[in-house]
Amino acid sequence: MLTIPVLLENDSYDVAVGDGVRHHLGQVLRELRGGAPKQVAIITEQAMIDAGWVHDLVIDAATVICTIEGGEASKSLSTIERLCTELVEAGLSRNDVIVGVGGGIVTDVAGFCAATYHRGIRYVSVATSLLAMVDAAVGGKTGVNLSVGKNLVGAFWQPSAVLCDTETLHTLPPREWACGRGEIAKYALLRGEGGEDLLDLDLHEQVGACVADKAMVVSSDERESGRRALLNYGHTLAHALETIDLEGGASLDLRHGEAVAIGLVFAAELAFDLGRISEDRVRAHRRIVGGLDLQGEIPRGLSAAHLVDLMGRDKKANHDLTFILDGPAGIEVVHGVDGAVVRSSLERVGCLP
Ligand code: GLY
Repeated sequence: MLTIPVLLENDSYDVAVGDGVRHHLGQVLRELRGGAPKQVAIITEQAMIDAGWVHDLVIDAATVICTIEGGEASKSLSTIERLCTELVEAGLSRNDVIVGVGGGIVTDVAGFCAATYHRGIRYVSVATSLLAMVDAAVGGKTGVNLSVGKNLVGAFWQPSAVLCDTETLHTLPPREWACGRGEIAKYALLRGEGGEDLLDLDLHEQVGACVADKAMVVSSDERESGRRALLNYGHTLAHALETIDLEGGASLDLRHGEAVAIGLVFAAELAFDLGRISEDRVRAHRRIVGGLDLQGEIPRGLSAAHLVDLMGRDKKANHDLTFILDGPAGIEVVHGVDGAVVRSSLERVGCLP
């Protein structure tokens, strides 16, 4: 088992990575700051229960299980309202604990429930997808989507512990592996020269290395007033692509990490068009994304103008177009990017004008 600390000003916590670490949940709950809870609410998906990842959890407290549907559509305020109602009906108190067991959608939703239920209760995350392990379950970003955009309502709410049980990856569907690999590509690129070495590690080491990279950034900027924004590399276009599905007009059927992979390649092309990086570095982006068996092309038929409009709503933007871009000083936040250049970079990677 690997243990990676997330060091924070208040309430640091550990992320455990390894086969079967979900069985540590009982001990984690007993040893929580504030004492062992009398009641625990597990928020999960039916698929996790069917796979057997929930019922063998041993918890010394009354336990209620609440389920959500799989898919981004269930990351909504109406899901939060339903879950919180179920928690009240089950009698969950302010001293109790919510445990999210699942992938990134579950951990985002369960974390946001914990952040808002009774104005905030303790939360433990049991991550069962590659995406949740390397990114979503770690660092305290929780939230839900609106039909006009991804993750637009949420809260910073740190878990008290994260258990990344790599045994659960045995039942992970291929598209969900691809989804996790999109975020791994991001970490490889954030490492700069030599970052591709991350891809040579075995699975446990790779997950541990991504968590350690994320923990370092989160420790230095818990609430994203600066450096943490770099963890959104590739996400400006990714969130715009995902919003097209949320709007309901078209179905691109992209998983988050698949959209991030496209966003990473686009970010490299845009950085090149702005004269910030060489063709070699663009090739490195394409090599890393392709090497992880991910597509770097924008789905056909999308309009550059519509994507630019959606990217203007990004949380990093300040009434402008803001991207995380590679450049001579490494990867950094770049504000005020010219929309005409963005449109022409989008057209070069497959968009309609
Ligand atoms: N996924 C980006 C972050 O946690 O900051």
